[in-house]
Amino acid sequence: MFQDEYLRIIDSTNDRARELAEKGGPHGSGVVAEQQTAGRGRLKRPWFSPAGKNLYCSYIIRPVVPFSEYPRLTLVAGLAVAHFMNDLLPGRVGLKWPNDILLGEKKCGGILCESVLSQDRHTGGYAIVGIGLNLLLERNELPEELRDRATSLLIEGGPRLMPLDAFNVLRRHLLACIDDWQKIGFQWILERWSSFDIMVGRQATWVTQKREVVTGVSLGPDSSGQLCIEDAQGTRHLVVSGDVTLAREL
Ligand code: BTN
Repeated sequence: MFQDEYLRIIDSTNDRARELAEKGGPHGSGVVAEQQTAGRGRLKRPWFSPAGKNLYCSYIIRPVVPFSEYPRLTLVAGLAVAHFMNDLLPGRVGLKWPNDILLGEKKCGGILCESVLSQDRHTGGYAIVGIGLNLLLERNELPEELRDRATSLLIEGGPRLMPLDAFNVLRRHLLACIDDWQKIGFQWILERWSSFDIMVGRQATWVTQKREVVTGVSLGPDSSGQLCIEDAQGTRHLVVSGDVTLAREL
């Protein structure tokens, strides 16, 4: 049975879910909040989290795979969100490695997975899958600096979906994809993830954490989930972390 928490306001649902996981919160349980005061995204960026408009949630996941494979969860969760969005706005959802959810070319959501290798033999290793999805935001409610890059389900002509309903339906997709990952394998997930990949075959620029710039064509994620970029000399670079930008965004 899930042990969920529904909150009006919280700093970050990821942090709260982690507290619950440390106390033994079961696989699939989640935290959902109407508003976050310190919502965060990848690379410690702030996540715009106004009240009552969007989905801010985090699920406790206890994968039955080695801890070294937990980073793959970001792509597994991405596929689950893509399935969820595709039911609402068929043919419009795209994924951008590693964790962006797009409608058309604009971002409408993101995933923040955080893995914890617990010392406690009862809790074991676990991960927190945090998902932010813009649902009911109107265009004029987006901050000026995000308007060119961000969108919402409503802005794109999708249904008026309440965050709580989204939280429950999305969980079904997430747990189903995790089951497939564990039973069928990551390759199966990757093939489906790739069918939503908006970057494959396009020029991309990767800025490494040392601020080196690599430009080339995206070949999509490899069998371990790392992004592969082929430069003009035919050298292949594996992107471990950092930021990848489509060439036209530069
Ligand atoms: C990203 O695109 O960089 C990831 C954004 C993830 C945001 C969600 S909102 C719910 C959960 N709580 C957080 O603090 N972050 C995630």
